Amino acid sequence: MSEVEALFKPLRIGTLEIPNRIAMAPMTREFAPGGVPGADVAAYYRRRAEGGAGLIITEGMAVNAAGAHDGPIPLFYQPETLAACRAIVEAVQGAGARIMPQLWHVGVQDSPTQVNPQTIKQRPARVGPSGLLGTGEIGGETLDESGIADTVADFARATAASRQAGFDGVEIHGAHGYLPDQFLWDRTNRRSDGYGGDVRERTRFVAELVRACKIAGGGDFPLVLRMSQWKSFDYDARLAQSPADLEALLVPIAEAGVDAFHCSTRRFWEPAFAGDPLTLAGWFRKITGKPTIAVGSVTLEHDFKAGKTEATGGIAESATRSRDVETVARAIAQGEFDMIAVGRAMIANPDWAALVRAGEAHRLRPFARDMLAALE
Ligand SMILES: Cc1cc2nc3c(=O)[nH]c(=O)nc-3n(C[C@H](O)[C@H](O)[C@H](O)COP(=O)(O)O)c2cc1C
Repeated sequence: MSEVEALFKPLRIGTLEIPNRIAMAPMTREFAPGGVPGADVAAYYRRRAEGGAGLIITEGMAVNAAGAHDGPIPLFYQPETLAACRAIVEAVQGAGARIMPQLWHVGVQDSPTQVNPQTIKQRPARVGPSGLLGTGEIGGETLDESGIADTVADFARATAASRQAGFDGVEIHGAHGYLPDQFLWDRTNRRSDGYGGDVRERTRFVAELVRACKIAGGGDFPLVLRMSQWKSFDYDARLAQSPADLEALLVPIAEAGVDAFHCSTRRFWEPAFAGDPLTLAGWFRKITGKPTIAVGSVTLEHDFKAGKTEATGGIAESATRSRDVETVARAIAQGEFDMIAVGRAMIANPDWAALVRAGEAHRLRPFARDMLAALE
């Protein structure tokens, strides 16, 4: 059996069986005018499902108005958006893949539009654990306890709506400096009311979120939580300085009912902590025992924020590096992590999985920034 076959074994996440180990990474595309994704968005996801991805994780979808990114992203709390999502779900499932929406709340974090810098920005009142940005500046208002409860309820409602719309589970966006991450990080969470304090106390919001979403999904609706060390505005930021820190952070969250973790790094192969070769996804899996999705520069030379400037809008172009396929397959075969999410390379190659399976990774197209200008 070729090593690459490890990528094509089914994976179980909670009650869900996924046909293989290849996910499409969540990527904001800003093609949802009025917050409603149309037939072009459904066809775009369907092409990745037809191209062999086992799981589509959608672009971030806003759970409420205060948490919505500025650009034309799906506003999941609108009834017309949910109706449009049914068509996306049918398109993807009809092509044999599973699909989860990514539930997103930006918190206080400014989220300049990545794809179209001309997008007119509306400024809703931003809210967060302490109103603080990671830079120490004020970015918005501090959520009081009833605001926290309302926000948790909005995520729970979005989870129940996901189930009704036919999705196979949900991914909560707890990474990159957005709301859940703002609660986890000591620089953005200065609370002293039980939602802040030491590492364990700072996990309270995320644990409540996970529990509420599990209940809203009926208990058996699969829940993936995406987390990262890095923030969109600070690639060197760390939630955990050591494996012991990471354990203190992850255990209460895992126990709250996470079915799988999606561990977001910019380069999937890098060791997480000095003195040990294990990747961050490897640590997530080792500590929690839960299925874990790795991500970051798969089959690409440059990470997605490489050389970020105002002019490039932040998403990096990249040449192809097909040898990653073997590295990923080996890590999965050896149980370091369970699934790989492919971002830009799957924008460039809707048939990424099919090419890899056929042993034709050398034919993968490089990622060019202008590919973001249209939904191909
Ligand atoms: C255009 C674009 C939009 C993105 N939007 C999101 C998003 O909505 N939610 C999220 O968690 N990550 C988002 N990301 C990060 C990707 O999910 C992924 O982690 C990152 O691109 C690294 O994977 P890659 O190197 O394979 O592209 C985005 C990335 C790109 C390129």
